[in-house]
Amino acid sequence: MKVLVAGATGAIGRPLVPLLQDAGHDVAALVRSAARADEVRGRGVEPHVCDVFDAASVRDAVAVAAPDVLVHQLTALPALLDVRRYEEQLRPTNRLRAEATPHLMAAAQAAGVRRVVCQSISFLTAPEGPPVQDEDARVYLDAPKAFAAAVAATHAMEQCVLHTDGVEGVVLRYGFFYGPGTAYATDGGTAGEIRARRFPIVGAGGGISSFVHIDDAAAATVLALDGGAPGVYNVCDDEPAPMREWLPAMAAALGARKPLRVPAIIPRLLVGPHVVHFATTLRGNSNARFKRTFGWTPAHPTWRTAFPEVLTG
Ligand SMILES: NC(=O)c1ccc[n+]([C@@H]2O[C@H](COP(=O)([O-])OP(=O)(O)OC[C@H]3O[C@@H](n4cnc5c(N)ncnc54)[C@H](OP(=O)(O)O)[C@@H]3O)[C@@H](O)[C@H]2O)c1
Repeated sequence: MKVLVAGATGAIGRPLVPLLQDAGHDVAALVRSAARADEVRGRGVEPHVCDVFDAASVRDAVAVAAPDVLVHQLTALPALLDVRRYEEQLRPTNRLRAEATPHLMAAAQAAGVRRVVCQSISFLTAPEGPPVQDEDARVYLDAPKAFAAAVAATHAMEQCVLHTDGVEGVVLRYGFFYGPGTAYATDGGTAGEIRARRFPIVGAGGGISSFVHIDDAAAATVLALDGGAPGVYNVCDDEPAPMREWLPAMAAALGARKPLRVPAIIPRLLVGPHVVHFATTLRGNSNARFKRTFGWTPAHPTWRTAFPEVLTG
């Protein structure tokens, strides 16, 4: 089928494109510049230049590309999120999610695109109920201020994708990416923070993270092009784990010294409650619905064995 990717040059877009090509799909990309058009053409991808914040530009580009499926992987995140500037650094991504998504969906609808598969995040649910949540858990719209706008924009994006008449909306809530080209790579921004011992375990470190290897996220996305019901799916590995377990394991894999431990009051006062949420109250996410529906088996089922394989000192 013909697959149009928005975000083909990003952390997931890079491994996704060759997987789509290997699966026999005809791959096109929405890009924002002539330089990016040349780059994707060199990877065997048909470029379509447009401004995603201009509805008419997107509509025309999608009409010319005429894909069966549109894959939305647009984010605008720095290589390392500075927790002190969290709100400001998430703003460009919030804008893509809240403002560009309606343009993509309207263009998909006008061009008769069958399905839109859209990147979301699993770590947007409220810290209540069981330690590992499914997709029906409440979205944390009342999150601490620095994170609240990101949750609101992501929720608006999901609703737009799920409720555009005539287009099947599939929302993939990926866990925290790790692996090549991500912040959690040997040369990634977070790895640098861990090596510099600037990434401590906060309080009891009970916040539960769900990770996904970037190649598993890309493979899941290929499966989501077809079959299954439209809806929301977590795409995470099999082992959600508290910070007090995964962070020392990641430090060991990187050959770094053990992470420091700090009482929650310190980052709460110095940085803000959002970091304390991620470190102490975040819930994990179950991948059962996606596995059951799309027959996905991650090649890296647990970070526990994958970190030592993927990360080096
Ligand atoms: N679930 C997760 O954990 C998660 C999810 C997403 C990202 N991240 C992390 O965030 C970091 C950066 O992510 P990333 O590499 O995907 O890069 P990114 O800078 O967030 O860009 C992603 C894609 O969006 C495109 N894009 C960004 N702004 C755009 C705009 N205004 N108009 C059109 N296209 C736009 C980029 O195109 P250009 O090439 O033109 O910039 C790129 O193709 C990485 O460390 C990654 O691991 C984590």
